[in-house]
Amino acid sequence: VILRVLGSAAGGGLPQWNCGCTNCCAARAGDPATPSRLEESVAFSADGEDWFLIQASPDVRRQIESFPALWPRRPRHTPVAAILLTNGDLDHVLGLLCLRESQPLVIYATHEVRRGFVDGNSVYRTLERFPGQISWRPFDLDGEQPLLTADGSDSGLAVRALAAPGKRPLHLEGDGDPAPGDNVGLLIRDRRTGGRLAYFSALAALTAPVRQQLAESDCLFVDGTFWTDDELIAAGLGERRGRQMAHLPVSGPDGSLDFLRTLSAPRKFLIHLNNTNPLLRADSPERAALAAARVEVAHEGLELRL
Ligand code: MLT
Ligand code: MN
Ligand code: ZN
Repeated sequence: VILRVLGSAAGGGLPQWNCGCTNCCAARAGDPATPSRLEESVAFSADGEDWFLIQASPDVRRQIESFPALWPRRPRHTPVAAILLTNGDLDHVLGLLCLRESQPLVIYATHEVRRGFVDGNSVYRTLERFPGQISWRPFDLDGEQPLLTADGSDSGLAVRALAAPGKRPLHLEGDGDPAPGDNVGLLIRDRRTGGRLAYFSALAALTAPVRQQLAESDCLFVDGTFWTDDELIAAGLGERRGRQMAHLPVSGPDGSLDFLRTLSAPRKFLIHLNNTNPLLRADSPERAALAAARVEVAHEGLELRL
């Protein structure tokens, strides 16, 4: 599998339009240690021909243009075989509305994520201009399923969507009961090379099944939203702790780093970093602590083969 990071930031990106925090100001000033970042998304492919996108971020148009493999090869065409959604947060789904232009699209998602986007959403009709414009393929939460290209042929890849501790999107909080399908992590397996990718960009906690899957993967992407649980409060920018937003912090006694440092996977990345996170500054002591645990911060343009 070939993988390319298209965006590494949490919702809002870096800089965020209404934020004047230290990191956002540094990014605006062009500080080379604090480069700008787009909202979280990763593209992957078995053969370099058919590509799968994880998330449809609000930056999707720029992300497609940033990577020639995603450019059309005919007057009307897209190499995007399907889009995989891990939850219904707006930073993962808003981009779907930018991908209209009467282009048929395939979307893999849980029933909960599909309903959260489609139900009562009149704007969604722009993706229903003709029958079959969007083909929803449900994730099977009980096991691995083949990942099929747009025409239904075998991509050579398999995916397992694993329910992971998370939450419903902000606009649906308090509307309906939480369900396992609200948030998933993805385990992508290349059946030819055997390479295994684990992708958990929103994690409220490291449950035993999540730990096990991370331990068995060759490459992993994990929720790097916040360095500390009280990061927004300490910066005077919010009232909620990371955990209340279903993002476990990287540092601290119950943070993700203490577990990640024990894993032997050759590449371990954090992704979905909030603009307040000190890890966004390449010269920060927090980044040095991360490197000591052999964990990296994902960045736009990063390419890997597994
Ligand atoms: C999250 O990652 O928790 C959400 O993207 C927050 C939001 O929708 O603003
Ligand atoms: Mn988010
Ligand atoms: Zn900021």
